[in-house]
Amino acid sequence: MKNTQRLDKLLANFGFGSRSEIKKMARNGLITVDGTVVNDASTHVDPEKSKILVNGRALNYRKNIYVMMNKPAGVISATYDGRLKTVTDLLPDELACFDLFPAGRLDIDTEGLVLLTNDGQLAHNLMSPKKRVAKRYYALVYGQVTEDDVAAFSEGVVLEDGYKTMPAELTIIRSGPRSEIELVLHEGKFHQVKRMFEAVGKKVIYLKRLQIAGLKLDETLEPGQCRELTPEEIDQLKGRDTSHLFDFT
Ligand code: URA
Repeated sequence: MKNTQRLDKLLANFGFGSRSEIKKMARNGLITVDGTVVNDASTHVDPEKSKILVNGRALNYRKNIYVMMNKPAGVISATYDGRLKTVTDLLPDELACFDLFPAGRLDIDTEGLVLLTNDGQLAHNLMSPKKRVAKRYYALVYGQVTEDDVAAFSEGVVLEDGYKTMPAELTIIRSGPRSEIELVLHEGKFHQVKRMFEAVGKKVIYLKRLQIAGLKLDETLEPGQCRELTPEEIDQLKGRDTSHLFDFT
């Protein structure tokens, strides 16, 4: 499919400067398309087919951008907030120039995997309750998590508002006065992990998201850091049947 865009708009979107700066660079002969100098920045180009250089630097065109972030506590999963720091505030300049938004929410005190993208269709698919996309969490819980809890979660538990959750897979890593667990959910109700543990008389004291569909958090990312997904990771997210075919090893 033909995908032509105005050179100034395209290059501004990819962080090469403001549209007026790009116009100026074009006038000064600093922009080439397939080896030919283009002086008029309103020229339409096909970034998927043409090699575009700005002052010798190549445009690395991507139709959509997919970024994984290790969200730290204290930051909200939103694009803008007048008061609190948001996940988009943490994006480095080279990614902040795209209109990225978080595909799904974590509580302010929850850490871990947040996907930021400008691919509205993928975000919709990941968040749609109908798609039952799995999300895997690690939690530290006050209280002894038992096999009875595993059984209760696999049936679904009734939350304080009367809602019965869908079956969830609870794995006990360590059980004691403070227990460590992993939990896979196929839905995303408000404060769901915390409320599920409250339903069995326990309290989540630390929560981290480890995985969305087939995409695992890169544990080398420090809280607050992010990076673009690899092509393989994008496939893992887009895979047809991601809600059921998980390799959680
Ligand atoms: N469940 C919660 O309770 N909080 C989150 O941030 C995500 C899932």
